[in-house]
This record gives sequence, structure tokens and C-alpha cells, in this order.
Amino acid sequence: MLLNVAIRRSYCYRPVKRWKIFKDLNEDSTKKGEVAINLAKHIRNRIIATGPITVAQYMTEVLTHPTAGYYMNRDVFGLSGDFITSPEISQIFGELVAVWIVNEWVKLGSPQPFQLIELGPGRGTLIKDILRVLTQLKLSEKLSLHLVEISEFLSQLQAQSICFEFEKLNDCTLPYYQIGKSESGCAVYWYKRLEDIPQDFAIILAHEFFDAMPVHKLKLMAGIWKEVLINISEDKLENFKFVLSNSPTPISQLFKPLPEETRTSLEYSLESDRIVRIIAERLQCYGGVALIVDYGHFGEKVDTLRAFKRHKLHNFLQDPGTADLTADVDFRQLKRVAEENGMVVCYGPIEQAQFLMKMNGNLRLQQLLKNAPPGSRELINSGYAMLTKSDEMGQRYKFIAMFPSVLRNHLNKYPPIGFD
Ligand SMILES: C[S@@+](CC[C@H](N)C(=O)[O-])C[C@H]1O[C@@H](n2cnc3c(N)ncnc32)[C@H](O)[C@@H]1O
Repeated sequence: MLLNVAIRRSYCYRPVKRWKIFKDLNEDSTKKGEVAINLAKHIRNRIIATGPITVAQYMTEVLTHPTAGYYMNRDVFGLSGDFITSPEISQIFGELVAVWIVNEWVKLGSPQPFQLIELGPGRGTLIKDILRVLTQLKLSEKLSLHLVEISEFLSQLQAQSICFEFEKLNDCTLPYYQIGKSESGCAVYWYKRLEDIPQDFAIILAHEFFDAMPVHKLKLMAGIWKEVLINISEDKLENFKFVLSNSPTPISQLFKPLPEETRTSLEYSLESDRIVRIIAERLQCYGGVALIVDYGHFGEKVDTLRAFKRHKLHNFLQDPGTADLTADVDFRQLKRVAEENGMVVCYGPIEQAQFLMKMNGNLRLQQLLKNAPPGSRELINSGYAMLTKSDEMGQRYKFIAMFPSVLRNHLNKYPPIGFD
């Protein structure tokens, strides 16, 4: 996500209609009378009842509390939201990811039908751009689309963006909570959890999903890992503060640092580990590919927890539920977990600028500029520059790809595009 909001993709795809849809949905959600509880009070009561909570518990409450969670009842993206992401900045991003998907799928023998899975689709912009390319290549009838989205509010935005019809279901015996048909005719399903998706050959995407996963904060003190917790502040009851746990916590005991770990303070996402293991097992047993894109590091950063509100940094502990909470993704840890037990082989992480360049992003930019009305050329150019410039998103954002390890020799001969 990016703080700079000067650029957005007003040059393509009926922006006016999009904004109207968001407005209607916002009105709908207030009409339903789902008045959000006061999250600060709720967290305070939880701490009073059970003692200080972990940073991961705090993030889970703040981001995904069923009624008051940050993602659960509003459109948080773009100009009127808190941050903007690559697919929202330029259509080139989604188009190049689509080309990558098709290329790797063909190399694997074009298995069909296949599942296209996206974790955390936001407004549905990335998947919409991908579907457009797959439809042009006449591939959309070969796939089913499976979206993992915890927010039913955002799932409606996604459905409005990609479906010509959709229906919310109230049947808890089904693994999905919403179904639809895309404009190109492929079946679309929404799930709360990745593990609910039927097992099959799948292409799995996660763009800015792992940075929203809860992290634990750990510090090494006299050779012992201790967990940082969140407690109520004494000065003002509605304020919170970080405290160091005096006694061992489940995570401080479970946590196994890598042999090469030199940091004495770090963030660790057990939930990310869990999801990566599910991805790796699926790829190993049923085949497929995963592409994970996010801002992150390779095990060198120590303190990346932060909050964003209205495109500005915000106090992490203040007004919970009104600002996005995020932490940089530790790609070294993701890779280690994915590759443990030899389930998958990983390529990357590679910087976004490099990936887009290797995928011929410049060529696509020139095509777009050639066909664009003069008034939108500046916007197209600056959007692509934002994705690729090293002081913007080009260096901070990284791509990692996962393949079943049985393909190791094949991949040595034919490495994935964008990573070669
Ligand atoms: C930072 S947004 C990224 C949106 C989109 N991928 C993009 O790049 O524009 C995170 C997305 O993940 C969803 N999400 C967050 N936590 C989740 C969870 N635990 N399970 C499923 N979805 C989650 C959010 O609702 C949102 O759609």
C-alpha cells in the first residue's frame, strides 16, 4: 500500500460507475443498522477480563472484528480511503500478472479445469484485470474463481466489480458464503478461509494479503525470547501501551529462530506460517503455482509495525478500527516454511521493478500510451513510474513464486518468467 494518492487509474474502466457502486454499498451497510461496537472499549474489556493481549490478538480484533473491524464495513482503498495498492494504480500490473499465470500454466501442460484462487482481493481490481486478459485468451471457461475474503462488505464490492450476477448465501453447511458468475461466465465462490476451498490444481495469488496477517512481537533478553504484549495505559483508560511479558507466552516458547538469526527484536507471524503451509501442501498434493506479492524484507528488519489512516502514518494503538494495521512481510520466513519438508520450490523474492521489467512492462506501457487519449497519457506514465521507481514501489515490493518440488528439474531447465 502506498501513502501517495496523487495517482489513480481514472483512465480506465468506468471509474464513475465504480464510485457510485461504493457509495450505494456504504449506504446499504448503514441502512442495515449494523452499528459497530466501540472497539477500544471492547479491547479494554478483554484486557480487563483476561490480562494483556498479544500484538497478534490486537491486530486480529482491530482488522477483522466481525462488526467493527477495519476491513469489515467500509471501502478502505483509494483516494477516499487510507491507502492505494499497485493494481489500483495501473492496469499494467494485473495484466502482467495474468501473462505470468498463463505462461506458467501452459508450461505445466495446461491442466483444465483449473482453480484461480486469490487471497484478500480488496476491491477486486487485480482479479478483474486478470480475468479480462484470460477472457481475451479464451481461457475463462476453463477456470473457476475462488476468493478468500474475510470481509463480507468487501466481497460485495468484489462481486459488483467482476460479476454480472451474485448471491449471498446463508447456509453454514456450505464452505462458501457467496457465489456468482463473472461477466465472462466463470463460476465465482467466496470463502472465509483458504482451507475451505476444494482441493484441486490451483493458481494461487496473494497481493498485499500477508502484510495484513497478525504478527507477534518478540525480544531477546539475556538469551530468552520474550513477547511484547498490549496492556491498558494507566494515564488514560482508553489508551493502550506496549509491555514486555514477564512470564513465557505460548509464542515465546514455540518460536524457533533460524540458525542464522542475528536480530534481538523481531516480528513473527504464526498465521502467515500456517497459511503458507496450507499453500505448500496443496501445491504438493494437487499441483499448481502460487505467486505472493507484498512489501517486505529478507529477515533483516526489526520494527515494521505501523498504522495508516487517510494516507498518513497513525499511532498503532490509538482509535483501533479506524486505521489499517500492517507489518512488512518476512520473505525469508515464508520461504523457509514453504520449503520445509521439501514440499515446494521457491523463486524470489525479486523486486517488483525487476519483475515488471522482465515481464516487458515497458512494452505494455508503450502500447497503452499509443492507444490512450492525450489527456490520460501523463496519468498512465506516472502510474507505471510509481510501480517501478526504486524510491516508490519498485524496490520495497517483492514477488515470490512457489511450485511443487516435483517440478524442480523441469524448472531448472525452464525457470519461471519474471524470475529468470
Ligand atoms: C491490504 S488489503 C489488499 C487488497 C488487494 N489485494 C489489493 O492489493 O488491492 C487486504 C485484503 O485482505 C483481506 N483480509 C484481511 N485479513 C484477512 C483474513 N484473515 N482472511 C481473509 N481475508 C483477509 C482484506 O479484507 C482485504 O481484502
